[in-house]
Amino acid sequence: MGALGLAPSAEAATKAPFQPPRPSDFRLRGRAAARVLILGGGVAGLAAAYELGKAGYHCTVLEARDRVGGRNLTLRGGDRLTEMGGAAQRAEFGRGQYMNAGPARIAQWMTTMDYCRELGVPLEVFTNTNAEALIYNESAGMDAPVKWRTAKADVYGYISELLAKATDQGALNGRLTADDKERLLSFLADFGAIGPKSGGYAYTGTGRRGYAVDPGAGAQAGTVLGPPPSLSDVLASGVGRSLSFEFGYSQAMLMFQPVGGMDAIPRALAEAVGKGRIRTGAKVTGITDRTGGTRVEYVQNGRTRAAEADYVIAALPPHILARIPHNLGANVQAALGTPVPASTGKIGIEYDGRWWERDENIYGGITNTDLDLATIWYPSYGYHGRSGLLIGYYNFGSAADAYARMTHAQRLRRALDQGAKIHGPRYRRGVTASVSIAWSRQEHIEGGWIGWPDRGAEYRLLNEPQGNVYFCGDWLSHEIAWQHGSFESARKVVTELHQRVLKS
Ligand code: PHE
Repeated sequence: MGALGLAPSAEAATKAPFQPPRPSDFRLRGRAAARVLILGGGVAGLAAAYELGKAGYHCTVLEARDRVGGRNLTLRGGDRLTEMGGAAQRAEFGRGQYMNAGPARIAQWMTTMDYCRELGVPLEVFTNTNAEALIYNESAGMDAPVKWRTAKADVYGYISELLAKATDQGALNGRLTADDKERLLSFLADFGAIGPKSGGYAYTGTGRRGYAVDPGAGAQAGTVLGPPPSLSDVLASGVGRSLSFEFGYSQAMLMFQPVGGMDAIPRALAEAVGKGRIRTGAKVTGITDRTGGTRVEYVQNGRTRAAEADYVIAALPPHILARIPHNLGANVQAALGTPVPASTGKIGIEYDGRWWERDENIYGGITNTDLDLATIWYPSYGYHGRSGLLIGYYNFGSAADAYARMTHAQRLRRALDQGAKIHGPRYRRGVTASVSIAWSRQEHIEGGWIGWPDRGAEYRLLNEPQGNVYFCGDWLSHEIAWQHGSFESARKVVTELHQRVLKS
């Protein structure tokens, strides 16, 4: 059936093919590699410099912040983090502890994986979903969190019961043949762990929910957790809303992270590009497109400087670019003002013990809530170590804005108060260090990512070069807020620019 296309089959999708520019591309054409100024040393800008560098392009990366990577930021003990408005924090995390303040997970299909392979960035599994992690919906009146496994068992169980009843009673006869019905009932018996026809296919709970006393040796069969709440209570709890998360193409396990911190990726890229080609603390103040070239003004160490090149790749966020004077015209300016920045924030909380592992069997994964902390992330590294660092909130939109307005001390207090609703008073004890980031308040970035009202004319315009200026970034891709989008955009721009240089 698979061969005939009649059943699901295991095929990996193909990626947009990419051939990096090669020195030999120039040999027979009498062309030479061009000079390219790359504005922004985030993942997109670095990837563009890296790929163009393979063919000998003369690239210079101008990065306004004091380090490369952009939103790919890993915070460790000793790091400083300053917000717009001046608030400064110093991470006091212990050795070996880190917080991925920006990107933190990579799906197996993403181009990010290919760059990790090529650059020798070692990877380990990042646990995105964990049966032992929790779901807590305060607004539904839940008085305690439930484990993902319990929520799944109950939701799948009751849905299976309902569908089995409807099928058996003939409600779906217009849709199902007799054979279909038999096969569906057999599937539901297994999928939902429901009872037999004689008992009305009732879902009554099984060990899938978990155990009050774990199975052990001899006569210790274990005590199944139960009985399950009623169908009505399960629906009212809203736990089912969390379950589709892991079905997403970008969020399904397995997922991966670089060993020791996500910034291994920009570090490896910068190494490959060559430190001498990257200027940090260089804030772009003007972009001029001219016949046959470009001119960029920037301020570094308080001095205004200018650089000239054949091409510019502007790999900055659109709302930042929109504030830089340029001569690319009103349409470009309007297009740059179209995408809307989105807020997000995280807090890293270090504890003097890994109580989530020791007391709750949670080894990585994410707790989902309807609190303003949105999610709590348990570390996918350092298991059974003496200390540990969890992400006390990773939130979005108005919740992220609310935390952004607080001081760090207020953010921590609120995160601990909210988290204690899930993990109890012990959540407030043993905290040894913490750092919080509000991406809307990070200078030169000012947002977690952007959203396009629609990917309309403005999106298409900025996906085309404007004179000698190209635009680049995850915001010009169909995977916004993923490094994959940055890498794919960089490859697209590099390919187009290189083809143009070969023809020019
Ligand atoms: N890539 C980010 C994350 O996984 C942001 C994001 C969230 C993007 C959800 C799309 C969907 O958290």
